[in-house]
Amino acid sequence: MMTEQSFRTIIEPFRIHSVEPVRLTSRAERAAVLEAAGYNLFELAAEDVLIDLLTDSGTGAMSAEQWAAIQRGNEAYAGAPSFGRFRAAVTDLFPFAHVLPTHQGRAAERILFTVAGGSGRIVPNNTHFDTTRANLEFTGASAVDLPVAEGLQPAARHPFKGNMDVAALERLLAAQAAAVPLVMLTVTNNSTGGQPVSMANVRAVREVCDRFGKPLFLDACRIAENAWFIRTREPGYQDVPVADIIRQMAALADGMTMSAKKDPLANIGGWLALNDDALAERCRNLQILTEGFPTYGGLAGRDLDAIAQGLREAVDHDYLRYRVRSVEYLGEALEKIGVPVVVPFGGHAVFIDARAMLPHIDPLAYPGQALACALYLEGGVRSCEIGTVMFGLQPDGTETPAAMDLVRLAVPRRTYTQSHMDYVIEVVERVAYRAGDLPGMRIISQPRRLRHFTARFEPAS
Ligand code: F0G
Repeated sequence: MMTEQSFRTIIEPFRIHSVEPVRLTSRAERAAVLEAAGYNLFELAAEDVLIDLLTDSGTGAMSAEQWAAIQRGNEAYAGAPSFGRFRAAVTDLFPFAHVLPTHQGRAAERILFTVAGGSGRIVPNNTHFDTTRANLEFTGASAVDLPVAEGLQPAARHPFKGNMDVAALERLLAAQAAAVPLVMLTVTNNSTGGQPVSMANVRAVREVCDRFGKPLFLDACRIAENAWFIRTREPGYQDVPVADIIRQMAALADGMTMSAKKDPLANIGGWLALNDDALAERCRNLQILTEGFPTYGGLAGRDLDAIAQGLREAVDHDYLRYRVRSVEYLGEALEKIGVPVVVPFGGHAVFIDARAMLPHIDPLAYPGQALACALYLEGGVRSCEIGTVMFGLQPDGTETPAAMDLVRLAVPRRTYTQSHMDYVIEVVERVAYRAGDLPGMRIISQPRRLRHFTARFEPAS
């Protein structure tokens, strides 16, 4: 594959401007806090975590220019220039008629689905993220995942494992079109491993949507990383700037939900954008009800400015080359030491196949949770189970194994260095060495929805 620079080492294209110390802990300390947290890593205090790979959401480092933009924030209740700058930056990449800021991505989802969802409705997606699914199900609608078969095979190498199964979408629409208010595509597809969706797939989905008269919405949290993969993997895009790839993808959609906490490089924020005037009107009424006036929508003016600047930085090729390479670096090292990982590596995270790594643990004894706890105990590395704990509890209260039991090592943007990643690799290696000794987990208490955030566990043996 051609790269635009001839050096083997792809450096972090920035230097460190301010530092935040991290705290080393003893194994005994970690064992105690893990037990007190009910073996749920969301319950840990962040100071007890050395390398925090729980999420890439809102955890990135802002640039000097973003901090400068924060100073330009205008806090007028209505019509702040910060909103103008935010909307200009958003529509430069996503030229939708209406842009509604929200406090984060899931607020955009809630607003959209409150209007478009409801009992008996069905929303297909390549794979719904957990909050997307929960927000839909909360309205009484059904969330249907239609990933391509390769997307559910961790070891299958395919350049666009995030794609939607277009034939399955067609079948669903042929059978139940009246129940489908809109079709969604999540780019990149977080739940199947941060895997990209090809432009050809978006086009094919658009074509099916057109045939059935359905709007297409993007869940675009990681669209810059997705566009980088298109540029480097999809024929015909090698010379197309990432910003133009994003514009082409947006042109195929009728709207989007966005979390500014991912690719837009902000610590908070999101938006809902769409073309349909009548739908936008109804969404705006809900936005005012719980988010805020349409020109700030649950954010401070300074946040809107940070997002506007972050969006410009997110499409920079030097940044994206480093970003994707740094995740790949971690993945390649784990693969080399024999840890089963989802390949090719995703844009924001490396996903360990916990079911393959811990075959002695039944999916209903949560191999992903067992592995995530072991990584914390071993070296203070916090990761996230994306498997049966997250997806196994059905709306009717029954439990079924998720399609995959993965542990996600999500890499915050511009935050950790290569030596941090070398340390993580060493921790995983030590855990892998005695993987056969790890016990499964049992749930001792859980809520009815989004249980992974608050369930309490104990080791099963
Ligand atoms: N869609 C996708 C694909 C996501 O990954 C997320 C969040 C959201 C929507 C919701 O956005 O957090 O701003 O409300 N994902 C985070 C994660 C939490 O860790 O993957 P939000």
